Amino acid sequence: MLLSLVYLSLLALPLSVLGQQIPVVDGVIGGVPSDASIASAEAEPRPLRVAATTPGALRVVENSGVCETTPGVQQASGYGDLTATESIFFWYFAARENPSTAPLALWFNGGPGSSSMIGLLQELGPCRINNDTTTVSLNPFSWNNNANTLFIDQPVGVGFSNGDLNVGTSQEAAADVWKFLQIFLKDKRFSNLVGRELAIWTESYGGHYGPTFAAYFLSQNAAIASGKISGIPLNLKALGVGDGLTDPLVQYPGYIAYAASNPYHPLVSESVITQANTSWTQHNGCRDQITACNNGGSDSVCSSAQSFCNSRILDPLVGPFDVYYILARDPDPYPPSITSYLNSIRTRVGGEVTWRSSNSQVFNNFAKTGDWMRNSRPDLETVINAGVRVIVYDGDADYILNFNGVEAMVDALNTKFSATYKTQVFQPYTVHGQLAGQFKNAGTFSYVRIYGAGHEVPAYKFGSLATGEAAFQMFSQIMSNQSLSST
Ligand SMILES: *[C@@H]1O[C@H](CO)[C@@H](O)[C@H](O)[C@H]1NC(C)=O
Ligand SMILES: *[C@@H]1O[C@H](CO)[C@@H](O)[C@H](O)[C@H]1NC(C)=O
Ligand SMILES: *[C@@H]1O[C@H](CO)[C@@H](O)[C@H](O)[C@H]1NC(C)=O
Repeated sequence: MLLSLVYLSLLALPLSVLGQQIPVVDGVIGGVPSDASIASAEAEPRPLRVAATTPGALRVVENSGVCETTPGVQQASGYGDLTATESIFFWYFAARENPSTAPLALWFNGGPGSSSMIGLLQELGPCRINNDTTTVSLNPFSWNNNANTLFIDQPVGVGFSNGDLNVGTSQEAAADVWKFLQIFLKDKRFSNLVGRELAIWTESYGGHYGPTFAAYFLSQNAAIASGKISGIPLNLKALGVGDGLTDPLVQYPGYIAYAASNPYHPLVSESVITQANTSWTQHNGCRDQITACNNGGSDSVCSSAQSFCNSRILDPLVGPFDVYYILARDPDPYPPSITSYLNSIRTRVGGEVTWRSSNSQVFNNFAKTGDWMRNSRPDLETVINAGVRVIVYDGDADYILNFNGVEAMVDALNTKFSATYKTQVFQPYTVHGQLAGQFKNAGTFSYVRIYGAGHEVPAYKFGSLATGEAAFQMFSQIMSNQSLSST
């Protein structure tokens, strides 16, 4: 989770305020900073660079012994230097089983500006943070059980990544991630992964990142095939997007619906709902502003839409509850903070800068372009139609990217499987006989709503299942190129 970033020194909240994936800006979750708060964010000291970079190559610490303690499982961490002043941090764990043939799964957290160490340590990595926030426990449902996993802190400036902040859109982020992967796969330690089946898994702002990265990888593959560029093709076979922001126009009414009625309890009073609904429907309201953004709107039109909609709709409708898990009041202490742990193991894994869960300047760079409100559904449709297996999933206790909005986005998809999808009814998703959610399949597309889960789906448990057990079944089925099925 990320620190609740409050840029105005006047509002300095104690750092004990638990972090979230999406920064709170001037008191608004996902808000757009005023000029004053940009100025104070820019005054933050740049991280100290402590090692010489090696542009176009990796700097690697092998087998640090941190986190993954299963005997014989290879791990590596360090930096891929895009340039002399742009370094991307990665942490790689080979599969616990059959690493030489297992697929490669990439993991990206969202934000924008959030570190993928969140996914590693709170959700699906080889170890999980304990409630004491200083120790970890081995995760029996780690996604590296049957896949080689690569956690990437991006864009530059996020988490342990270090250097010039040149990225302010998902498209720019995609180009840097592709460049990083070229450097990674070229390294002799990882060149056995060239041509291996590849999957992108992501959450939250990953509803933009995932489709954008996947579509970019496919277009780069085509450019390599036609001789336009040289590079290593990426054998993209799967894309997973959890609790994602993909198509804001279709998803924002979900906040109103979810606040009024969800599987647990209403979040706010009727009058707050009515007010937010007015902000949605009124002339030049949120709906009109997102529409203008999506119809070729400028960065400033999109940025204003983000500011308006997040202050009038996203922020007020959660009431006193945690945006990431509405069964808790804000702030939910779970999942536990990973900041102390990561800074205690920083040098052992090759980290060169103080780890922060979220970089506010990176968030600001995206807020300036209004990337938040752009529509990534066309890229998702391209990827589905190209034959990449796609799963969209959502935890039913998450407000911030709630299932009402995500299911509206899925229903709006226009792909070769959409006609079939519309004929499907939800099936119960069971894991070893325990009900865990409800799902639909159509062709190589699947959707599942996971019961009892907040924003970080694999961090939760339900019924008799262990933490992350339902999410692991989903991951395994998709990674072995199967549609979802109950067990
Ligand atoms: C929102 O406003 C529209 C138009 O006034 C109305 O039809 C709809 O029922 C309202 N929805 C809610 C949840 O209040
Ligand atoms: C950790 O804390 C959460 C609530 O914050 C609680 O539900 C969970 O049971 C705790 N885990 C352990 C192992 O004590
Ligand atoms: C994955 O499954 C689909 C549908 O069954 C099939 O068309 C495709 O060839 C499979 N891909 C691989 C890599 O096996």
